[in-house]
Amino acid sequence: MDAPSFDTILVVDFGAQYAQLIARRVREAHVYSEIVPRTMPLAEMLARRPKGIILSGGPASVHVDNAPSIDPALYEAGVPVLGICYGAQLVARQLGGEVRRTGGGEYGRTPLHRTDAGSLLFGSLSDEQVVWMSHGDAITSAPGGFRVTAMTPGAPVAALEDRDRAVYGVQFHPEVVHTERGQEVLKAFLYDVCGCRPSWTNTSIIEQAVGEIRAQVGRERVLCGLSGGVDSAVAAALVHKAVPDQLTCVFVDTGLMRMGEADQVEETFRGQFHVDLIHVKAADRFLAALDDVADPERKRKIIGETFIRVFEEVARDVEDARFLVQGTLYPDIVESGGAENATIKSHHNVGGLPDDMQFELVEPLRNLFKDEVRAIGEELGLPEEIVWRQPFPGPGLAVRVAGTITPERLDLLRRADAIVVEEIKRAGLYREIWQSFAVLPVVRTVGVMGDGRTYEYPIVVRAVTSDDAMTADWARLPAEVLERIASRIINEVSGVNRVAYDITSKPPGTIEWE
Ligand code: XMP
Repeated sequence: MDAPSFDTILVVDFGAQYAQLIARRVREAHVYSEIVPRTMPLAEMLARRPKGIILSGGPASVHVDNAPSIDPALYEAGVPVLGICYGAQLVARQLGGEVRRTGGGEYGRTPLHRTDAGSLLFGSLSDEQVVWMSHGDAITSAPGGFRVTAMTPGAPVAALEDRDRAVYGVQFHPEVVHTERGQEVLKAFLYDVCGCRPSWTNTSIIEQAVGEIRAQVGRERVLCGLSGGVDSAVAAALVHKAVPDQLTCVFVDTGLMRMGEADQVEETFRGQFHVDLIHVKAADRFLAALDDVADPERKRKIIGETFIRVFEEVARDVEDARFLVQGTLYPDIVESGGAENATIKSHHNVGGLPDDMQFELVEPLRNLFKDEVRAIGEELGLPEEIVWRQPFPGPGLAVRVAGTITPERLDLLRRADAIVVEEIKRAGLYREIWQSFAVLPVVRTVGVMGDGRTYEYPIVVRAVTSDDAMTADWARLPAEVLERIASRIINEVSGVNRVAYDITSKPPGTIEWE
């Protein structure tokens, strides 16, 4: 989805961690933003006709050899610039100011004192603020033509602006929540300096996506794989809004889904949206292929391959389909081409189909962050259960039933898992927890119930907090919630006599057990 009709802010990435957050904050102010690598030639950036350019923070020091830089012609291009942290130091240094390693770095919440009542960036904010700092170097003198608009104990030039050239810099991080009025500073840049209109709203995102889908697919048939998760559901709902009569959705029920998931998809897409839905009940086929397989990597490969085969067979029946919808998100696009990672687990994505399938891709979410996808999912009328569903691995419950998979073990896990989810929801924690689920290990343990000895399976409860699944921490669930989960599982799921809580973070653990 290109966004020609939206005012656009480019965020030049000097260290990916911050760039995404800045882009998200800009969008929260209803202005479209895109992250671009610092190596992109200036002419290419300007060709996107940005209303403003933000230079992100980053881990480097401007003093190191080959410090990341930007073409200084940027400052004469007539496009407003805001440097943040490293970006501000770069502005100062490139325009003739001074950046020094003062030995007085600042990290964390820091009091900021405004030194210029006429500052455009600080607008009507009071003279004293709390901002989030994270810097070793500091700007010690501003370039000619700049006003110093704020200082902190460790940063004599904590903010600077040159209104004539529309070049601004802040040493602090307006994008992090700990900078209490940070969003207002960003808004002042977007609205007052760049003259952006707050037009990036759910309704306009949907309108734009719908227009683009229609232009791309014409009158051809479009196929969409549904996984039960939010991304494929929102992508399908968007395509459905654009070309309702041309869409065929395929939901492959692997038999490895959570409780009620298949019904939910059926109810929503066939019942509510009247989508042409092919519901492939392939549980037997998946279970047969997984028979006696205990190795996690083999499970993943088998599920991935079986999935592709089933999908291909169905796709062949939808003869004239030329387009395939994928729920690719913006962070996937930004991150692809990033660092090469060691393969910890070979991830199988439901819908991750091979290139040799002759489809042209439709990716209506490719410019959206997850929270935007959820917001437009709600706007499109998708039910809360789908829009707010926690992430779920492609191989489904197969990687949560440790060891070999049988229908009985799957059923036991599914019932325990439903209790975990229900209780987490009841406690009002479902949205703030990244994932919460049950795992069924291979061992059995001894217990006593009534007057008799039992020898049954334990269930392990796993609940983690995370921002992106790359790292995670175990969720500090209230003891009462854990207690309810444990007692319900033992009372309601026969075959379980013990419940344990997994208190491993990632690393060293992974979120899933397999
Ligand atoms: P791990 O277990 O590696 O998982 O910490 C990180 C995130 O990815 C999900 N996950 C998968 N997602 N296919 C997927 O689409 C997979 O094979 C897969 N394995 C793990 C996991 O649930 C967590 O959100």
